[in-house]
Amino acid sequence: MKPVAFHPLARLLHWLMAVLILAMLFVGVSMVSDLSPRHTWLVSLHKAIGLALLLLVLVRIGVRLSLAPPPLPDDMPPVQRWAAKASHLLLYGLMLAMPVLGWGMQSAGGYPLPLQLPALLPHDLPLYALLRQAHGWLAYVLFATVLLHLGAALVHGLVRRDGVLRSMWPGPLPKN
Ligand code: HEM
Ligand code: HEM
Repeated sequence: MKPVAFHPLARLLHWLMAVLILAMLFVGVSMVSDLSPRHTWLVSLHKAIGLALLLLVLVRIGVRLSLAPPPLPDDMPPVQRWAAKASHLLLYGLMLAMPVLGWGMQSAGGYPLPLQLPALLPHDLPLYALLRQAHGWLAYVLFATVLLHLGAALVHGLVRRDGVLRSMWPGPLPKN
């Protein structure tokens, strides 16, 4: 029988990561313009959560490859199916790229990493500048993609009412 909802583990990972990623985006944007003593603490928090997200996305990719997702509704037009798949792939790519870029940029800049993790790249300031820019720009692409994703989820849940939002519901599945 085909699944009607994502596996509870997939749903747990989706919502845990959604909360952490949104927090990271807001903390990231606010900490760069924060000159108070809080700045150092926020940067350390940002790095620690960012690296935890790297671990979580690796687990999530494994879960996604081993547990079948529910099928999309039969009446969904091909272009929307394509858009859903492409945007999910983009979200996975960004969820992986952002922490790797963060780790790489801190290594290239010669900055300390949590848990004394090893440097991913050699100390190289021009490379640091490039990766720092990429980290900022990709964060905005991630923000925009999440907003589109949220819009699509709400159309599924409130307009089409086709079970797609229910399939990712964070708690016990509602009846309708
Ligand atoms: C999903 C993971 C991550 C997200 C969504 C994220 C998001 C952001 C955002 C939105 C900014 C502000 C960018 C700007 O305004 O230019 C930022 C800055 C920064 N991120 Fe991340 N980040 C992530 C992971 C990491 C990791 C793993 C590290 C390091 C280990 C890291 C280190 C930094 C640092 C040091 C800055 C500030 C640099 C500065 O003060 O110029 N980030 N991040
Ligand atoms: C940072 C925030 C978020 C990220 C990174 C994210 C990421 C993803 C990804 C990658 C998938 C594809 C799952 C898979 O096929 O393995 C997905 C599915 C889904 N997400 Fe999100 N999500 C976020 C926030 C939200 C929010 C706020 C909602 C709803 C209000 C939502 C609703 C859904 C739904 C309904 C699906 C299932 C779609 C389908 O079956 O095609 N997501 N999300």
